[in-house]
Amino acid sequence: MATRESVIRRMTRLAVQHDAVNLSQGFTDEPPPFELVWAAVSAMLGGTNEEMARLDRASLRELVPGVDAEAILDRPLKQLLEPVQGHRDRLNQYSFPFGLPELRDAIADYTHRFYGWRPDPETEVTVTLGATEALASVLAGVCTPGDRLIVPAPYHEMYPSQAAVFGLVPEYVTLVEDVDTGRWGFDRDEWEAAASRGARALILNTPHNPTGKVFSASDLAFIAELAARHSLLVISDEIYEHIVFDGARHLSLAAVPGMRERTIVVNSISKTGNATGWRVGWVIAPAVHTPAIRGFHDTMVIQAPTPLQRAAVALLQFDAGAFDVLRAAYATKRDTLVAGLRRAGFGVGAPEGAYYLFARYRDVPALAERAPMEAALHLITEVGVASVPGDNFYATGTAGDGYLRFAFCRSVSTLEEAARRLASLKSA
Ligand SMILES: Cc1ncc(COP(=O)(O)O)c(C=O)c1O
Repeated sequence: MATRESVIRRMTRLAVQHDAVNLSQGFTDEPPPFELVWAAVSAMLGGTNEEMARLDRASLRELVPGVDAEAILDRPLKQLLEPVQGHRDRLNQYSFPFGLPELRDAIADYTHRFYGWRPDPETEVTVTLGATEALASVLAGVCTPGDRLIVPAPYHEMYPSQAAVFGLVPEYVTLVEDVDTGRWGFDRDEWEAAASRGARALILNTPHNPTGKVFSASDLAFIAELAARHSLLVISDEIYEHIVFDGARHLSLAAVPGMRERTIVVNSISKTGNATGWRVGWVIAPAVHTPAIRGFHDTMVIQAPTPLQRAAVALLQFDAGAFDVLRAAYATKRDTLVAGLRRAGFGVGAPEGAYYLFARYRDVPALAERAPMEAALHLITEVGVASVPGDNFYATGTAGDGYLRFAFCRSVSTLEEAARRLASLKSA
């Protein structure tokens, strides 16, 4: 099949070309937490767990003995660090294709800490190149070409595009906005009808991109029953698990009684660690599915980068408080962009989770008559803000027509600049 360039990444290219504030692709312009970066540096430099631990603790006097204190101040850091490099190495080399043992253990402990059950790191956890390759390995491993895959729309574009790569047939169901509350719900009969046509799996994404919906306990109970009644696997994409607002709580379907054997979780450090470029993610799957998932993963990519896997352990061991800080920072960002869009005339609810605003633009005079791609291009070229056309999140129908998606994962000053530029729409 012919794959095509992601519309989201195309909008990013256009944003760069037109010097627009890029709110199209979901990555931040702020660094990962220092502890995470340091873990990567010390893994690469130290090369072993023992050296990493030594680098964590040792003073410069211990690390670079015999160097005069005054001279140190004038020497480039690079020169100082060169003799610190370890002589034995494990952490810059191939490791087990399915994941460094330290990271699989950390994923198991982390899952226990947040969701109350501990997957077996030997048989249920596979480390991948982000959630993207996690999903690909799952689709290749558990589905057979021709299988139906239930995909709620709007959706992240990789779901149907990967389905096409693996010869799967997407069966779309919908999420619908209540424009009075800005909340997104779904029609259970529609989902039931889709499941009764005989699908292999359903893709759930909560917190949800692009709507910000956080599936409630009652939503998950319905999905669990649906899966049991129709022998469905549920592939649960939880990469925004810590980004929830206003008291909303992310619940993992795998923790719902009876769902462990039917749920495959895909996750990554991309969003939680502000490290989208590291490409470290994982799959938690029932042991029966793991060999096929690992087989595809090993064949296609061998493994995720060893030192970055080792560093990811640090993120998964952060105390819960660090994730509260992340949430609070995103709440401020959300409020900044919601206010900016509303001032410019967009209709937008405050999402409960993830870091996107799926905003209605038909009441903005300069955009009202434009199709979503034209509206997005107008915003890039005339206003200097890049978004993603709403119809990119739907395969069929016109439901995405009045929407543009804006990511609010940039720094507050970047979002303020976007809001300032959007204000020009008022005077247009
Ligand atoms: C819902 C969803 N799943 C997966 C991904 C990709 O994640 P990763 O960087 O871990 O491959 C994204 C990225 O934006 C996303 O929004």
